[in-house]
Amino acid sequence: MSKIELPKSVMAAINFKGGTGKTTVALAIAEGICRLMQKRVVVIDCDFQCSASIALLGRRTLNDLIRRNATMDCLLLSKLAKRSGTRLRERVAAAQFCVSEAAGLMHILPGSPDMPRHERQIVASFLPKSDINAAYETAAAKMGDQFRSLLDEFDFVLIDCPPGLTLFSEAAIRAADGIVVPTLPNEISFAAIDHLRAEIARARPDTPFDDLLVGTVVSKVRQKNGSTSHRTHVESIERLLDRVAPQFQLLKPYLPYCRELEGATWRDNERSISFAMRYGQSSGMVERLVQEFASRCGALMARRQHASGAGRDTRREAHGR
Ligand SMILES: Nc1ncnc2c1ncn2[C@@H]1O[C@H](COP(=O)(O)OP(=O)(O)OP(=O)(O)O)[C@@H](O)[C@H]1O
Ligand SMILES: [Mg+2]
Repeated sequence: MSKIELPKSVMAAINFKGGTGKTTVALAIAEGICRLMQKRVVVIDCDFQCSASIALLGRRTLNDLIRRNATMDCLLLSKLAKRSGTRLRERVAAAQFCVSEAAGLMHILPGSPDMPRHERQIVASFLPKSDINAAYETAAAKMGDQFRSLLDEFDFVLIDCPPGLTLFSEAAIRAADGIVVPTLPNEISFAAIDHLRAEIARARPDTPFDDLLVGTVVSKVRQKNGSTSHRTHVESIERLLDRVAPQFQLLKPYLPYCRELEGATWRDNERSISFAMRYGQSSGMVERLVQEFASRCGALMARRQHASGAGRDTRREAHGR
């Protein structure tokens, strides 16, 4: 059992580039936290492709929730635009397809394919009082507060972001105590992280990107011709990362391109299997990654608490003077 204490916090798996492993990494981290730390985790699906929702609930259950307007985006629309009193918590569902160690601990706040339409309706509901930019900002801030409200009932909130910038990823950026950036080992993917830096600087002007970044997870590292080639590839990734931008805060180990991770988000109608079976040859690596992730989250939250304590002291002193 892990001795690392994961702090109660909201983390977002984000990268504006598509297909970088956000959902795969988010689910692996979430299941790893359940397995190693026995925390109650909720994954928020901010992507209208609904990959995380399909993986954890199965298509049939998700389609049923969509038909009944019982997804996260429907709730936010009625809460923000129509002032309904239903709590976001009431749309959280227990995961049906997760590793056996995560049963009862792992939860999902499902998204729906209607999210793009719902986000326009949410923004429109703020328009009578403000211009389009202010309406967008207000909506994102309120949605972010809603996401954070789940900390009242869960130990850990992990947001699976969509590719690109949407109202839901804006809300995730506002809600997050920290971010984890899944990336592929190539230059185009690293360049996308600079775009992310710029957008986060705009959306969170008070928190420097480096204070939010828990780490970059490099995934789909090919192990083509045995260990020598793998080592060479890893060394070239590190040279590339050094060159492209400093301070990626790489989380290790890197995740390999492998069959188990390729299939990790496809689980519909699958019987419950153990963590070791789900992640196969990569299960040890995923566990080490989760430990490293948890310890970085702990350090980040401790730094933040320290800084806000110091800020309070300075304000108190200034007041007393
Ligand atoms: N380590 C890996 N090895 C092999 N295949 C992988 C690995 N990680 C992810 N994949 C596969 O790559 C594809 C993209 O992964 P995933 O859906 O996690 O990315 P994403 O960033 O969430 O995508 P999107 O931007 O569309 O939300 C999926 O088919 C997934 O199964
Ligand atoms: Mg995804």
